[in-house]
Amino acid sequence: MSVQTTKINNRRYLGNKYKLLPFITKTVTEHCGDFTSFTDIFAGTGAVASAYINKQLTTNDILFSNYISNTAWFSPENYDWDKLVSFISEYNDYNSIEENYMTKNFSDTYFSHDICSKIGFIREDIEDKKNSKIINNREYAILLTSLLYAMDRIANTCGHYDAWRRNVDLSTQVLEMRMLAAEKNLNTNNLCFNTDSNELASIIKSDVVYLDPPYNSRQYCDAYHLVENVARWQKPEVFGVAKKMDRTPLKSKYCTQSAPKAFDDLISKLDARYILVSYNNMENKGNERSNARISDEEILASLKKRGKVQIFSEEYKAFTTGKSDRSDNQERLFLCKCQ
Ligand SMILES: C[S@@+](CC[C@H](N)C(=O)[O-])C[C@H]1O[C@@H](n2cnc3c(N)ncnc32)[C@H](O)[C@@H]1O
Repeated sequence: MSVQTTKINNRRYLGNKYKLLPFITKTVTEHCGDFTSFTDIFAGTGAVASAYINKQLTTNDILFSNYISNTAWFSPENYDWDKLVSFISEYNDYNSIEENYMTKNFSDTYFSHDICSKIGFIREDIEDKKNSKIINNREYAILLTSLLYAMDRIANTCGHYDAWRRNVDLSTQVLEMRMLAAEKNLNTNNLCFNTDSNELASIIKSDVVYLDPPYNSRQYCDAYHLVENVARWQKPEVFGVAKKMDRTPLKSKYCTQSAPKAFDDLISKLDARYILVSYNNMENKGNERSNARISDEEILASLKKRGKVQIFSEEYKAFTTGKSDRSDNQERLFLCKCQ
């Protein structure tokens, strides 16, 4: 079987900014002048960082699964393309029926029994290859990200793992891993972190820091628990119909009432020339779960303590979790030129 390639945007992710890149890059180009370093501190898929692949990049996300994919796309370590394509080809050809962590916990939910078996086998094998030093850290991240993207393409969900759809024929699922079209020879000072944004803020320095925090009460660790579970591979006990693991350490303050305080603390700690914040205007407009956690006034008050602020806006599809069909939703960028 020949191996196809995949790009960074071939993944479903709530709040993914890939489609907004023209708006974001235009704003940065027109207002930030020349700069050498760019930080994406709530990086998610890494879509925004990918627009600054020629800069010195720093990425961060509280989810390990996002740290792994950011490492795959942005780590300065090089990798052996042919070796990885050969492993991926072997994985794609492999038919597994063994019982493992995945079959025991997830058979006939998000994936069929046999696909669970294959995911469990491949995940274990990637870990073994890393432990026996057959692959380096970036190669590990690339194989793992390739597996996570392959799962995402076929998962029996509506794009996130809060529930799986019943009465769906899973026998047609085919798990096909693809090789990541990841750049080589990246800036040797690129760094990828997996920590809380507020912890990281005081130890990094960057010309432009981009912030895209969660907007509402919906926790990313809930929506992507299975992706995170497979990425971490600690094989925890899972609970309930949705088969979620304990996610207590992964909960974000930005999805709670303390979001404005956390945001203010983060902004006060950043060492940057420009701070760029994405936040849409769903505040008190959609359903309860979609309502923005930080008001425009709070964003402005925090940013104005650091310098002059400008707001840019563009019409954008609603970031909502419910049935809201509002069409006047705008995605905004708050740009602060720090003093
Ligand atoms: C709106 S999404 C970012 C989407 C991203 N810009 C993209 O294009 O894919 C917000 C991200 O922030 C992460 N996050 C939430 N709380 C965090 C925290 N306290 N520190 C770091 N990352 C956090 C979530 O895991 C999620 O990936």
